[in-house]
Amino acid sequence: MNHHIEAYQKRIEDFLHQLLDPSTAPVPDLLAAMRYSTLGGGKRLRPLLVYAAGEALGTPDSALDRIAAAAEMIHVYSLIHDDLPAMDDDDMRRGKPTCHRAYGEALAILAGDALQALAFAVLVDDAIGLDADARLRLTRELADASGVRGMAGGQAMDLAAQGKELSLDELETMHRLKTGALIRASVLMPARASGTDTPLAESLSAYADCIGLAFQIRDDVLDVEGDPALMGKACGADRLLEKATFPSLLGLEASRRRACELVEQGLEHLQPLGAEADLLRFLARYIVSRMH
Ligand code: IPE
Ligand code: IPE
Ligand code: MG
Ligand code: MG
Ligand code: MG
Repeated sequence: MNHHIEAYQKRIEDFLHQLLDPSTAPVPDLLAAMRYSTLGGGKRLRPLLVYAAGEALGTPDSALDRIAAAAEMIHVYSLIHDDLPAMDDDDMRRGKPTCHRAYGEALAILAGDALQALAFAVLVDDAIGLDADARLRLTRELADASGVRGMAGGQAMDLAAQGKELSLDELETMHRLKTGALIRASVLMPARASGTDTPLAESLSAYADCIGLAFQIRDDVLDVEGDPALMGKACGADRLLEKATFPSLLGLEASRRRACELVEQGLEHLQPLGAEADLLRFLARYIVSRMH
Protein backbone atom coordinates (compact mmCIF):
# COMPACT_ATOMS: atom_id res chain seq x y z
CA MET A 1 0.00 0.00 0.00
CA ASN A 2 2.85 2.42 0.82
CA HIS A 3 4.24 2.01 -2.66
CA HIS A 4 0.82 2.82 -4.10
CA ILE A 5 0.59 5.96 -1.95
CA GLU A 6 4.06 7.15 -2.87
CA ALA A 7 3.22 6.74 -6.56
CA TYR A 8 0.16 9.00 -6.14
CA GLN A 9 2.18 11.51 -4.10
CA LYS A 10 4.74 11.72 -6.90
CA ARG A 11 2.02 11.99 -9.47
CA ILE A 12 0.36 15.00 -7.79
CA GLU A 13 3.74 16.61 -7.13
CA ASP A 14 4.61 16.40 -10.84
CA PHE A 15 1.23 17.75 -11.86
CA LEU A 16 1.44 20.69 -9.44
CA HIS A 17 4.90 21.49 -10.87
CA GLN A 18 3.35 21.66 -14.32
CA LEU A 19 0.53 23.92 -13.15
CA LEU A 20 2.91 26.28 -11.38
CA ASP A 21 5.43 26.56 -14.21
CA PRO A 22 7.54 29.66 -13.42
CA SER A 23 8.19 30.45 -17.08
CA THR A 24 4.54 31.49 -17.49
CA ALA A 25 4.52 34.01 -14.63
CA PRO A 26 4.05 37.72 -15.29
CA VAL A 27 4.93 38.43 -11.63
CA PRO A 28 7.79 36.10 -10.61
CA ASP A 29 7.63 36.84 -6.87
CA LEU A 30 3.99 35.88 -6.57
CA LEU A 31 4.47 32.60 -8.41
CA ALA A 32 7.59 31.93 -6.32
CA ALA A 33 5.52 32.30 -3.14
CA MET A 34 2.82 29.97 -4.55
CA ARG A 35 5.45 27.39 -5.50
CA TYR A 36 7.20 27.73 -2.14
CA SER A 37 4.07 26.75 -0.21
CA THR A 38 2.63 24.23 -2.65
CA LEU A 39 5.56 22.15 -3.88
CA GLY A 40 7.64 19.57 -2.05
CA GLY A 41 5.74 19.26 1.19
CA GLY A 42 2.72 18.00 3.05
CA LYS A 43 1.11 14.60 3.25
CA ARG A 44 -1.11 15.25 0.21
CA LEU A 45 -4.03 13.67 2.03
CA ARG A 46 -6.69 15.45 -0.05
CA PRO A 47 -5.20 14.37 -3.40
CA LEU A 48 -4.82 10.84 -2.01
CA LEU A 49 -8.50 10.82 -1.10
CA VAL A 50 -9.37 12.01 -4.61
CA TYR A 51 -7.36 9.18 -6.19
CA ALA A 52 -8.73 6.67 -3.68
CA ALA A 53 -12.35 7.67 -4.38
CA GLY A 54 -11.51 7.58 -8.10
CA GLU A 55 -10.31 3.98 -7.67
CA ALA A 56 -13.51 3.08 -5.88
CA LEU A 57 -15.66 4.63 -8.63
CA GLY A 58 -13.57 4.02 -11.74
CA THR A 59 -13.21 7.74 -12.59
CA PRO A 60 -10.84 8.59 -15.53
CA ASP A 61 -7.30 9.47 -14.38
CA SER A 62 -6.98 12.72 -16.34
CA ALA A 63 -9.95 14.18 -14.43
CA LEU A 64 -8.56 12.93 -11.12
CA ASP A 65 -5.26 14.80 -11.53
CA ARG A 66 -7.09 18.10 -11.94
CA ILE A 67 -9.53 17.41 -9.10
CA ALA A 68 -6.65 16.41 -6.82
CA ALA A 69 -4.65 19.53 -7.70
CA ALA A 70 -7.65 21.79 -7.16
CA ALA A 71 -8.30 20.32 -3.70
CA GLU A 72 -4.63 20.62 -2.72
CA MET A 73 -4.40 24.23 -3.93
CA ILE A 74 -7.44 25.24 -1.87
CA HIS A 75 -5.87 23.46 1.09
CA VAL A 76 -2.50 25.22 0.65
CA TYR A 77 -4.25 28.57 0.30
CA SER A 78 -6.08 27.86 3.56
CA LEU A 79 -2.79 26.99 5.28
CA ILE A 80 -1.03 30.15 4.07
CA HIS A 81 -3.87 32.32 5.37
CA ASP A 82 -4.28 30.25 8.56
CA ASP A 83 -0.64 30.99 9.44
CA LEU A 84 -0.88 34.77 8.95
CA PRO A 85 -0.38 37.08 11.95
CA ALA A 86 -4.07 38.01 11.80
CA MET A 87 -5.01 34.36 12.24
CA ASP A 88 -2.79 31.78 14.02
CA ASP A 89 0.46 33.74 13.61
CA ASP A 90 2.64 30.70 12.98
CA ASP A 91 6.29 30.71 11.90
CA MET A 92 6.74 27.14 10.67
CA ARG A 93 4.76 25.07 8.17
CA ARG A 94 5.74 21.83 6.44
CA GLY A 95 9.18 22.01 8.03
CA LYS A 96 10.11 25.48 6.79
CA PRO A 97 9.23 29.11 7.52
CA THR A 98 5.61 29.99 6.77
CA CYS A 99 4.84 31.81 3.53
CA HIS A 100 4.52 35.24 5.16
CA ARG A 101 7.81 34.67 7.02
CA ALA A 102 9.58 33.89 3.75
CA TYR A 103 7.81 36.34 1.38
CA GLY A 104 6.10 38.92 3.59
CA GLU A 105 2.44 39.24 4.50
CA ALA A 106 1.23 40.97 1.35
CA LEU A 107 2.61 38.32 -1.03
CA ALA A 108 1.39 35.54 1.27
CA ILE A 109 -2.16 36.92 1.12
CA LEU A 110 -1.93 37.20 -2.66
CA ALA A 111 -0.39 33.73 -3.01
CA GLY A 112 -3.42 32.31 -1.18
CA ASP A 113 -5.81 34.32 -3.34
CA ALA A 114 -4.10 33.24 -6.55
CA LEU A 115 -4.01 29.57 -5.52
CA GLN A 116 -7.73 29.69 -4.87
CA ALA A 117 -8.39 31.20 -8.31
CA LEU A 118 -6.09 28.68 -9.98
CA ALA A 119 -7.89 25.79 -8.27
CA PHE A 120 -11.13 26.74 -10.03
CA ALA A 121 -9.40 27.48 -13.34
CA VAL A 122 -7.89 23.99 -13.28
CA LEU A 123 -11.30 22.39 -12.72
CA VAL A 124 -13.09 24.20 -15.55
CA ASP A 125 -10.28 23.81 -18.12
CA ASP A 126 -11.15 21.78 -21.25
CA ALA A 127 -8.18 19.55 -20.46
CA ILE A 128 -10.15 17.96 -17.62
CA GLY A 129 -11.97 16.01 -20.33
CA LEU A 130 -15.45 16.26 -18.79
CA ASP A 131 -18.63 17.80 -20.17
CA ALA A 132 -19.79 21.24 -19.03
CA ASP A 133 -22.38 19.85 -16.61
CA ALA A 134 -19.77 17.78 -14.81
CA ARG A 135 -17.42 20.75 -14.58
CA LEU A 136 -20.21 22.84 -13.06
CA ARG A 137 -20.96 20.14 -10.49
CA LEU A 138 -17.29 20.03 -9.50
CA THR A 139 -17.05 23.81 -9.28
CA ARG A 140 -20.10 23.94 -7.07
CA GLU A 141 -18.81 21.19 -4.78
CA LEU A 142 -15.44 22.87 -4.31
CA ALA A 143 -16.93 26.36 -3.91
CA ASP A 144 -19.34 25.15 -1.23
CA ALA A 145 -16.52 23.40 0.62
CA SER A 146 -14.30 26.49 0.53
CA GLY A 147 -16.71 29.30 1.30
CA VAL A 148 -18.88 30.58 4.09
CA ARG A 149 -20.57 27.18 4.59
CA GLY A 150 -17.20 25.42 4.42
CA MET A 151 -13.57 26.17 5.20
CA ALA A 152 -13.76 29.98 5.41
CA GLY A 153 -16.87 29.82 7.61
CA GLY A 154 -15.18 27.30 9.90
CA GLN A 155 -12.07 29.43 10.14
CA ALA A 156 -14.22 32.41 11.15
CA MET A 157 -15.86 30.26 13.84
CA ASP A 158 -12.40 29.19 15.04
CA LEU A 159 -11.32 32.81 15.45
CA ALA A 160 -14.56 33.84 17.16
CA ALA A 161 -14.23 30.91 19.60
CA GLN A 162 -10.77 31.89 20.87
CA GLY A 163 -10.86 32.24 24.65
CA LYS A 164 -14.39 30.79 24.81
CA GLU A 165 -15.66 27.35 25.67
CA LEU A 166 -17.83 25.84 22.94
CA SER A 167 -20.36 23.06 23.42
CA LEU A 168 -19.43 19.72 21.87
CA ASP A 169 -21.98 20.34 19.09
CA GLU A 170 -20.52 23.74 18.29
CA LEU A 171 -16.98 22.37 18.29
CA GLU A 172 -17.99 19.55 15.94
CA THR A 173 -19.69 21.98 13.60
CA MET A 174 -16.61 24.21 13.54
CA HIS A 175 -14.32 21.25 12.75
CA ARG A 176 -16.66 19.86 10.10
CA LEU A 177 -16.59 23.23 8.36
CA LYS A 178 -12.98 24.32 8.68
CA THR A 179 -11.45 20.95 7.80
CA GLY A 180 -14.16 18.37 7.15
CA ALA A 181 -15.77 20.20 4.25
CA LEU A 182 -12.71 20.11 1.98
CA ILE A 183 -12.01 16.48 2.91
CA ARG A 184 -15.60 15.63 2.03
CA ALA A 185 -15.32 17.48 -1.29
CA SER A 186 -12.10 15.58 -2.08
CA VAL A 187 -13.95 12.28 -1.69
CA LEU A 188 -17.12 13.43 -3.45
CA MET A 189 -15.72 15.29 -6.46
CA PRO A 190 -14.76 12.07 -8.27
CA ALA A 191 -18.40 10.98 -7.85
CA ARG A 192 -19.65 14.33 -9.14
CA ALA A 193 -17.35 13.98 -12.16
CA SER A 194 -19.22 10.92 -13.32
CA GLY A 195 -22.60 12.20 -12.16
CA THR A 196 -22.88 9.36 -9.68
CA ASP A 197 -25.89 10.31 -7.64
CA THR A 198 -26.49 6.89 -6.25
CA PRO A 199 -26.36 5.02 -2.95
CA LEU A 200 -22.62 4.72 -3.65
CA ALA A 201 -22.15 8.50 -3.51
CA GLU A 202 -24.16 8.53 -0.28
CA SER A 203 -21.87 5.91 1.25
CA LEU A 204 -18.83 7.95 0.23
CA SER A 205 -20.35 11.11 1.64
CA ALA A 206 -21.09 9.46 5.01
CA TYR A 207 -17.56 7.99 5.08
CA ALA A 208 -16.05 11.40 4.32
CA ASP A 209 -18.07 13.17 7.03
CA CYS A 210 -16.68 10.76 9.62
CA ILE A 211 -13.04 10.89 8.56
CA GLY A 212 -13.09 14.68 8.04
CA LEU A 213 -14.04 15.26 11.67
CA ALA A 214 -11.61 12.56 12.85
CA PHE A 215 -8.82 14.28 10.92
CA GLN A 216 -9.22 17.59 12.75
CA ILE A 217 -9.57 15.83 16.13
CA ARG A 218 -6.25 14.08 15.43
CA ASP A 219 -4.73 17.46 14.46
CA ASP A 220 -5.89 18.88 17.80
CA VAL A 221 -4.46 15.87 19.68
CA LEU A 222 -1.13 16.16 17.85
CA ASP A 223 -0.95 19.83 18.77
CA VAL A 224 -0.81 18.64 22.39
CA GLU A 225 1.30 15.49 22.18
CA GLY A 226 3.01 15.61 18.77
CA ASP A 227 6.68 16.13 18.01
CA PRO A 228 7.22 19.48 16.22
CA ALA A 229 10.24 18.02 14.39
CA LEU A 230 8.02 15.35 12.82
CA MET A 231 5.04 17.66 12.32
CA GLY A 232 7.01 20.41 10.60
CA LYS A 233 4.96 22.98 12.52
CA ALA A 234 4.76 24.27 16.08
CA CYS A 235 2.97 22.29 18.79
CA GLY A 236 1.25 23.73 21.82
CA ALA A 237 0.01 26.76 19.90
CA ASP A 238 -3.67 25.94 20.40
CA ARG A 239 -3.38 26.27 24.18
CA LEU A 240 -1.41 29.51 23.95
CA LEU A 241 -4.06 31.00 21.66
CA GLU A 242 -6.86 29.56 23.81
CA LYS A 243 -8.32 27.74 20.83
CA ALA A 244 -11.46 25.68 21.21
CA THR A 245 -10.21 22.13 20.57
CA PHE A 246 -11.27 18.55 21.34
CA PRO A 247 -8.54 18.01 23.95
CA SER A 248 -9.44 21.29 25.69
CA LEU A 249 -13.08 20.24 25.93
CA LEU A 250 -12.92 16.45 26.37
CA GLY A 251 -9.32 15.74 27.38
CA LEU A 252 -6.79 13.73 25.35
CA GLU A 253 -8.02 10.22 26.02
CA ALA A 254 -11.66 10.92 25.13
CA SER A 255 -10.55 12.86 22.04
CA ARG A 256 -8.47 9.91 20.81
CA ARG A 257 -11.40 7.60 21.47
CA ARG A 258 -13.82 9.85 19.58
CA ALA A 259 -11.49 9.98 16.56
CA CYS A 260 -11.18 6.17 16.52
CA GLU A 261 -14.95 5.71 16.81
CA LEU A 262 -15.49 8.06 13.90
CA VAL A 263 -13.05 6.13 11.75
CA GLU A 264 -14.80 2.84 12.59
CA GLN A 265 -18.11 4.44 11.60
CA GLY A 266 -16.53 5.71 8.40
CA LEU A 267 -15.31 2.21 7.56
CA GLU A 268 -18.79 0.79 8.11
CA HIS A 269 -20.12 3.14 5.46
CA LEU A 270 -17.70 1.54 2.99
CA GLN A 271 -19.10 -1.92 3.57
CA PRO A 272 -21.12 -1.96 0.33
CA LEU A 273 -17.84 -1.48 -1.56
CA GLY A 274 -15.34 -4.20 -2.35
CA ALA A 275 -11.56 -4.27 -2.66
CA GLU A 276 -11.68 -1.25 -4.98
CA ALA A 277 -12.21 0.87 -1.81
CA ASP A 278 -9.16 -0.48 0.02
CA LEU A 279 -7.18 2.73 -0.37
CA LEU A 280 -10.08 4.67 1.18
CA ARG A 281 -10.01 2.18 4.06
CA PHE A 282 -6.26 2.53 4.50
CA LEU A 283 -6.46 6.35 4.53
CA ALA A 284 -9.21 6.30 7.16
CA ARG A 285 -7.00 4.27 9.51
CA TYR A 286 -3.99 6.41 8.71
CA ILE A 287 -5.87 9.56 9.73
CA VAL A 288 -6.09 8.49 13.37
CA SER A 289 -2.74 6.71 13.64
CA ARG A 290 -0.60 9.37 11.96
CA MET A 291 2.14 11.11 13.93
CA HIS A 292 2.29 14.18 11.70
C1 IPE B 1 -3.21 20.77 8.38
O1 IPE B 1 -3.56 19.89 7.36
C2 IPE B 1 -4.32 21.74 8.60
C3 IPE B 1 -5.59 21.14 8.92
C4 IPE B 1 -6.61 21.23 8.15
C5 IPE B 1 -5.74 20.42 10.18
P1 IPE B 1 -2.60 18.68 6.98
O2 IPE B 1 -2.19 17.95 8.23
O3 IPE B 1 -3.25 17.85 5.92
O4 IPE B 1 -1.31 19.43 6.40
P2 IPE B 1 -0.28 19.00 5.27
O5 IPE B 1 -0.98 19.17 3.96
O6 IPE B 1 0.13 17.57 5.50
O7 IPE B 1 0.86 19.96 5.44
C1 IPE C 1 -6.57 24.83 10.24
O1 IPE C 1 -6.69 24.30 11.49
C2 IPE C 1 -7.65 24.46 9.36
C3 IPE C 1 -7.51 25.13 8.05
C4 IPE C 1 -8.55 25.39 7.37
C5 IPE C 1 -6.21 25.52 7.52
P1 IPE C 1 -5.40 24.53 12.38
O2 IPE C 1 -5.12 25.98 12.58
O3 IPE C 1 -5.51 23.68 13.59
O4 IPE C 1 -4.26 23.90 11.43
P2 IPE C 1 -2.73 23.86 11.82
O5 IPE C 1 -2.64 23.10 13.12
O6 IPE C 1 -2.25 25.27 11.92
O7 IPE C 1 -2.10 23.08 10.68
MG1 MG D 1 -6.20 27.74 12.63
MG1 MG E 1 -3.20 26.94 12.49
MG1 MG F 1 -4.00 22.52 14.46
